[in-house]
Amino acid sequence: MSAPQDKADGCELPEELRRYYLDAMGVQVWDELYSHAVSTAETQVVEAAVVETAVTEAPVQEENIVHAEAVDSTPMPDVLSSSWPELQSMVQQCSQCDLHSSRTQVVFGAGNQNARLLLVGEAPKQDEEEQGMPFVGEAGDLLTAMLKAIDLQREDVYITNIVKCRPAENRHPQPAELDACHQYLHRQIALLQPKVIFAIGAMASQTLLKSSKNIGVLRGQAHNFEGIPLVASFHPAYLLRKPSEKRKAWQDLLQVKSLLVE
Ligand code: URA
Repeated sequence: MSAPQDKADGCELPEELRRYYLDAMGVQVWDELYSHAVSTAETQVVEAAVVETAVTEAPVQEENIVHAEAVDSTPMPDVLSSSWPELQSMVQQCSQCDLHSSRTQVVFGAGNQNARLLLVGEAPKQDEEEQGMPFVGEAGDLLTAMLKAIDLQREDVYITNIVKCRPAENRHPQPAELDACHQYLHRQIALLQPKVIFAIGAMASQTLLKSSKNIGVLRGQAHNFEGIPLVASFHPAYLLRKPSEKRKAWQDLLQVKSLLVE
């Protein structure tokens, strides 16, 4: 389905376009189902966000691209006391698991290092490895649209993965890879000190929550990661395969939004 032409010349979003974007988020019958459950203010936020919800990716910023590493001989500080640039450099030079031998590029993370919202996915795929940025493929486009639906731009948040190098053939990361990379995510969280963590998909949610429960069970519950509120939700790649679950993802996003304003 292609987007109806946006002929809006002011703040008002034409009804046809509004319907299209809500439909893309899986909230086609917003008025009927949610009008009494969700405040007018929230509705306005969605309407404002969907003006820009055409699933286009934010331009890749050169400073956020982690290029293939030039090894430097300066001794590395401890991960636990590292600064952002030191940490990024350590991750670029990491060889603590087998993924380092097949990677072409580390995907450290991207976004606002003062963000209040941290999004954590599973691991880079081919597109992400090529660009050195998390969530840039089709699933990334949907993630961008989901953020916009709660009035956030990619530049407002920080996005990373539990594993920073691409596992071959789109397989899930192995326990040894998760263990090796855990310290880096931990340090990113300590440096960022986010107000809310949004765990994207089963593997990120299970790893952060040290749980083996199904994502269908983990989502919709209040969690925390070392005192930071954590919302678990479906992976956008799964939502692309199963759009009927978008409604639940929307509820998870509303939970994120309300935790951010608390
Ligand atoms: N899936 C993830 O979990 N992370 C990415 O960066 C891209 C796809």
